[in-house]
Amino acid sequence: MTTRRDFLKLGGGAAALSMVAACQPAATENATKDVAMIDSMLIDPKMIDFGQSIDRQGTDSVKWDGRAAIFGTDDVVPLWVADMDFASPPAVRAALVERAAHPVYGYTQVPERLYDSLIGWQKQRHGWEVERDWAAVTPGVVPVLYAAVRALTRAGEGVIVQPPVYTPFFSAVTENDRRLMLNPLREQDGHYSMDFDNLEQCARDGGKLLLLCSPHNPVGRVWRRDELQTLLDIARKHDLIVVSDEIHADLVYAPNTHIPLAMLEDMPERVMTVLAPSKSFNIPGMGLAFMLCGEPELRSRVRAEFTRLHIESNNPFSLVAAEAAYRHGAGWLDVLMHYLAKTQDLVLDYCAAYLPGIRALRSEGTFLMWLDCRALAQARGLDDRALLRLLVEKAKVGMSSGVIYGQGGEGFMRLNIGAPRQVIMDALERIKQALTA
Ligand SMILES: Cc1ncc(COP(=O)(O)O)c(C=O)c1O
Repeated sequence: MTTRRDFLKLGGGAAALSMVAACQPAATENATKDVAMIDSMLIDPKMIDFGQSIDRQGTDSVKWDGRAAIFGTDDVVPLWVADMDFASPPAVRAALVERAAHPVYGYTQVPERLYDSLIGWQKQRHGWEVERDWAAVTPGVVPVLYAAVRALTRAGEGVIVQPPVYTPFFSAVTENDRRLMLNPLREQDGHYSMDFDNLEQCARDGGKLLLLCSPHNPVGRVWRRDELQTLLDIARKHDLIVVSDEIHADLVYAPNTHIPLAMLEDMPERVMTVLAPSKSFNIPGMGLAFMLCGEPELRSRVRAEFTRLHIESNNPFSLVAAEAAYRHGAGWLDVLMHYLAKTQDLVLDYCAAYLPGIRALRSEGTFLMWLDCRALAQARGLDDRALLRLLVEKAKVGMSSGVIYGQGGEGFMRLNIGAPRQVIMDALERIKQALTA
């Protein structure tokens, strides 16, 4: 019998996983007991080590193994696509190992337990009382954005997006033959806000649906209650539907608070929410998200879009990972947010002290930081391409170029800080060297 002390000495989750991995496929009962034991050992989430470096190369990781395709070279520190280099919560790994120990991986229905875990999580984390009927499981957030555009608007109708914003927001509109209407965020001295006057104008000009990013990737805003309320007032006045992508909702830095848009709305026919445990618990490769809407008609129109394409089921691993994350991941997530907050502070200080022309903006939420490199670009006469080349070829750091997020992204870079702190600080050091060489 492994004691709690042995467990921690052996490296916590890794030991737990090897214990579970040692189970024979038929020994599901034993595996279940092991998982229960692992859960009880996880009462002290401070034992989780986010500083530990994990080699992801050779796992077909988009972030690591996709470097040559994206940057033209595979020797950059990859700080781009939005997943983290941290091990997922031990409880998630243990649940996956337990499921894998059963040797049949057949068609799997969505268990009611998963909805219960979602409802519990939303209540506990965001004070949002979600009803069971509102929720449907889908293979991802982006598929819901696409389906919602198709189901809730007609070809040629206007869909509003607020750049700079996560790239698929644009393609969800243009690839479905809708009219892309831009309501660019306003930036003032590094602070972003929504342009409500222009939003109203877009609605007057025929905008039928708004794709909201809340919290907002890439600028890191966590929208305040008054901002969301103003947005809803406009939506009500102009009969605008809001699809609120809240995938980053759990990743918010104190004292900011995420407010689910639907919690403020007394007319559910106006708001559809899309969220997932994927970013929060670093399981985005699993492919699972929830679509939530209090209005049956709206819900069934979007669901019908999935039915038409016969996209109705999820793989068994995504289901157990999501449930374990919502049920057992709270402590892990709290430690993660502490770790990221500290990393963010160090990045802000380092840029201010050592990287002339690069101003890091404080993110209120997400593990993404928005670096204003306009002064650097201007001082050296660099366009966006040349700025990226400098960072990739001289500094060997692979971040996302701000231009891919549309209007307002020029001269910015998006830095993913979801990696051991040492990796982030080394990357900044490389940039410093490149700028002074
Ligand atoms: C705002 C936003 N929405 C959606 C996604 C992706 O969601 P999914 O992988 O569930 O389609 C991301 C990933 O970076 C994102 O930042």
